[in-house]
Amino acid sequence: MKVPIIQLNLEEQTVKDVTDVLKSGMWAEGKNVHALEEEFAKYIGAKHARAVNSGTSALLCALYGIGIKPGDEVLVPSFTFIATANTILEFGAKPVFVEAERDTFNMSADDAKKKITKKTRAIMPVHLYGLSVDMDAFNDLAAKHNLKIIEDACQAHGAEFKGKKCGALGDVAAFSLYPTKNMVCGGEGGLVTTNDDAIAERVKLYSNHGQAQKYVHASIGFNFRMQEFNGVIARASLKVLDKNNQKRRENAAFFNDAFKGVDQIETPVVPSSRVHVYHQYTLKVKNRDKLAEHLQKNEIGYGIHYQIPIHEQQSMKNMGITAKLPVTEQLAKDVISIPAHPMLSKEQLDFVAKTIKDFFK
Ligand SMILES: Cc1ncc(COP(=O)(O)O)c(C=O)c1O
Repeated sequence: MKVPIIQLNLEEQTVKDVTDVLKSGMWAEGKNVHALEEEFAKYIGAKHARAVNSGTSALLCALYGIGIKPGDEVLVPSFTFIATANTILEFGAKPVFVEAERDTFNMSADDAKKKITKKTRAIMPVHLYGLSVDMDAFNDLAAKHNLKIIEDACQAHGAEFKGKKCGALGDVAAFSLYPTKNMVCGGEGGLVTTNDDAIAERVKLYSNHGQAQKYVHASIGFNFRMQEFNGVIARASLKVLDKNNQKRRENAAFFNDAFKGVDQIETPVVPSSRVHVYHQYTLKVKNRDKLAEHLQKNEIGYGIHYQIPIHEQQSMKNMGITAKLPVTEQLAKDVISIPAHPMLSKEQLDFVAKTIKDFFK
């Protein structure tokens, strides 16, 4: 592959720190995981952070944290990763799929408003590809209808809305540290953030067998703990997050410029209230599948997030969950993400831009 969609980089010092942890034999949650929790909470501007073993676990903890119950409805986008909906179903609650905005790809607050019923308990917007949703609109809806907001910030480490970081904009938030994400941990991991003391307590219990003290169980809970060496790598990754996000923005600006005047390409739209972190740099294009073949032939990595919206997945149909979302369905046919990660060289950027422009000539 000449230009991979993602390239990971570990500093020598981090390798040494991980080796020290491995040699120490202290492998389960320990001082590095706890330091990560403090450092991440401070970075996000949230009162609490809890480190867990995946973004999916973080979503489960967040849902438990707000006290979701069987039969509750949760408003979610369909144009997202499946975990957003599956975690709701795990509690016996129902994901109610909301239309996307064509320009930002994010969940539409206007459509969400139309889907509120007596059973609606929460809204779970996703800051898709690293761009915050319109949080003012969702917070207004939540205040008016007494709903909780869970931010799915799994793709949005460092993203901002009106000067505040995603993860501190609703009641509780979930982040993923999966290896492709802007912030990583050397394997699978996740973080939950909240400003609410009661939610933080429930999240902590749920992620650790409901244990308030050893072998004393105050609530139901499971083992969602983060391993210590993942804590070491996540702390190192947090230190370079802002620098890497800035590089991603520069790469995005380069492509926006390069594709100006190419009628078949729509580049990402960023409303002035928001700071994008380009977890994905995603274009809307004509002839998407043929472009994908062209990129493959030229050894350029790409991603299609998401080819099948959640409401069209067989697993949802099997449960009788359906929706009609024409904007989402069209986006699924038009989107393609191209490499914009911070390790790209100038030559690689030029090569990707030229290869795509040649295709549309
Ligand atoms: C929007 C969204 N939600 C949830 C998840 C789940 O995170 P994880 O894969 O770490 O469990 C992801 C991961 O890709 C995601 O992109």
